[in-house]
Amino acid sequence: MLDRAKSLADIIRKHEDIHIVTHIDADGITSGAIAVQALSRLGKNYSIEFIKQLDPSTIERIRDENHELVWFTDLGSSISNSSLSMIISDHHMCTDDSNSFFHLNPHLFGLDGSIYISGAGVTYLVAKMLDSNNIDLSALAIIGACGDLQEHRYRRLVGGNREILKDAIDANVVRVETDIQYFGRETRPIHKLLQYSTDPIIPGISGYESNSLSFLYEKKILLKDNSSWRRWIDLSKEEKRIILSGIAQRLLLKGFGHNMVKKLIGEVYTLPREEVGTELHDAKEFATLLNSTARYGYYDVGLQVCLGDRDKWLKKARSLLRGHRQNLVEGVQYVKGEGIKQRRYLQFFHAGNGVRDTIVGIVTNMLLNDSNIRNDIPLVGFADKNSREVKASIRTTQSLVDQGVDLSVAIRKAASHVNGVGGGHSIAAGATIPKGEEERFLEALEEEIKTQLSSSKDVL
Ligand code: C5P
Ligand code: C5P
Ligand code: ZN
Repeated sequence: MLDRAKSLADIIRKHEDIHIVTHIDADGITSGAIAVQALSRLGKNYSIEFIKQLDPSTIERIRDENHELVWFTDLGSSISNSSLSMIISDHHMCTDDSNSFFHLNPHLFGLDGSIYISGAGVTYLVAKMLDSNNIDLSALAIIGACGDLQEHRYRRLVGGNREILKDAIDANVVRVETDIQYFGRETRPIHKLLQYSTDPIIPGISGYESNSLSFLYEKKILLKDNSSWRRWIDLSKEEKRIILSGIAQRLLLKGFGHNMVKKLIGEVYTLPREEVGTELHDAKEFATLLNSTARYGYYDVGLQVCLGDRDKWLKKARSLLRGHRQNLVEGVQYVKGEGIKQRRYLQFFHAGNGVRDTIVGIVTNMLLNDSNIRNDIPLVGFADKNSREVKASIRTTQSLVDQGVDLSVAIRKAASHVNGVGGGHSIAAGATIPKGEEERFLEALEEEIKTQLSSSKDVL
């Protein structure tokens, strides 16, 4: 992969004007920011655009713009044999290796792009090949990886991400600690952190604010310091230990076993150059802040924060974050209100205009992690994209992936069956399909998942 990164860097050096095309999520924004910094440090001219997905008409439009060189980051793996002058640093599933000499992608090296390295990670490798002084950009690659939940499975970054982490530690831009895995260590009041906990779910506490408060009260944990809510980072080691053992006890009492308890703790990644107790100090929280920007069309906001703005753009990002949180809570409530429809091999909901197409994936993920919703079959979430198209997001569990489910393959087939486009990773994938084709799409998807499960059983 490093050799391939070097080939891409060599191509960049031969061009003066480079157009970056990237994705609207946290990994896409950090990828774009790494590319921008690397090019501007080289003195190249650059432009950047953010897109929801790379469909054939977008590729055609970019081709018509006649850029000297296009750099696709965190997307592009679906382009086959285009006549574009381009390089690609992506981590999505790809099968076609006809573009391979200018395409850096873990899948081309037999590595799993959902865990081994993110879009920001592969883009960082190219930046590092352009100039070894770019190792400070490794912090952005760690944020991108966390945005794509790459640390989630093993409770630590592995593979290529681990190599990047070494750079980040050497450059003193990231620190690693072992701590609770729940979201919001730096900014959420403790009872909120526990209330919103998922994976592992805390029986009787996840989803219940009053139970979360009484649990902390029982453990004699002070909730406030003067008049402000205490956060996880404000707790002493002893207080953290008391809470963690209380959660562990609850899990064991409910029969969840030690593997579930082990999931409570893992690595967390902090950014020592940022202010403690802010969204920027923790890589996961930083990623969520970024997800609140470009997914709502505010591309510059996330990008400028990644490029170092801590003033007006950060302020704007924080106000978008409040809206984003609200939208996620409302999105989950909306779907629960409407109900999730069950089929044999999958379950689904159609939010119509009730949830934005750009966050339906996050909502789907949250629902699959909800203790009141089954997770033994994949969950598909639909949301209207416009009057002609529908966005589909599909999420599953590691356990089903281990049993042979590969959503990226299934969704690609099902989407093309109805003249749509789709792709992604084995555990999380998405598609855009024509409106009105939802039923045919679900049928094809279900058939594919059924085949995947039964053929893996044959092998076993
Ligand atoms: O487009 P991209 O590859 O950047 O997004 C990855 C997606 O995979 C994210 O939506 C992330 O939430 C999802 N994912 C997941 N569970 C994992 C790993 C990734 O839902 N264990
Ligand atoms: O949009 P969503 O979060 O559901 O996407 C899940 C994964 O599928 C992401 O990695 C995304 O980049 C990918 N995806 C794709 N092609 C699409 C839609 C989503 O590769 N048309
Ligand atoms: Zn990504």
